[in-house]
Amino acid sequence: PHRRRITLTVNGRPEDVEITDGELLVDVLRHRLRLTGTHAGCYNGDCGACTVRVGGTIAKSCLLLAASVDGAAITTLEGFSGTEGLSELQQALWERDAFQCGFCIAGHVFALDDMLTRTPDPTESDVRDALIGNLCRCTGYVNLVEAVLDIAERRRELGAAEAG
Ligand code: FES
Repeated sequence: PHRRRITLTVNGRPEDVEITDGELLVDVLRHRLRLTGTHAGCYNGDCGACTVRVGGTIAKSCLLLAASVDGAAITTLEGFSGTEGLSELQQALWERDAFQCGFCIAGHVFALDDMLTRTPDPTESDVRDALIGNLCRCTGYVNLVEAVLDIAERRRELGAAEAG
């Protein structure tokens, strides 16, 4: 197969990687860069386990040819909260024991974070809508939803305290 080099910025680090033409971003992240927080479940765009952020947009990395994101800034689950410990979302998920086997974490974390950025005070149906396209094979959706509703409630309390 034809080989080429691409450059990526992954979790803030410049990477220069040799890939084959048809190689998928999920495989480059997992096998070439050893970032195994990005999982490969279905290779079909259905499960969400391979979700990353490409620039400012979340994307399923099994649907992207690595060559097509040459030059892009990518954030994987490993880089999700930067260097400052758990984010507000991760903390809330932790407190609710929101994950069982953990295979689906990347998709749920990125999808929920994306929704919380756009909708800071989500309703239950906002949260459930955000989870469409991410499969949990342990069927543990309830605690994921509760965790995000905890955040919404805390934000409302904080807003009320600041206002009053
Ligand atoms: Fe990409 Fe399932 S592996 S959506």
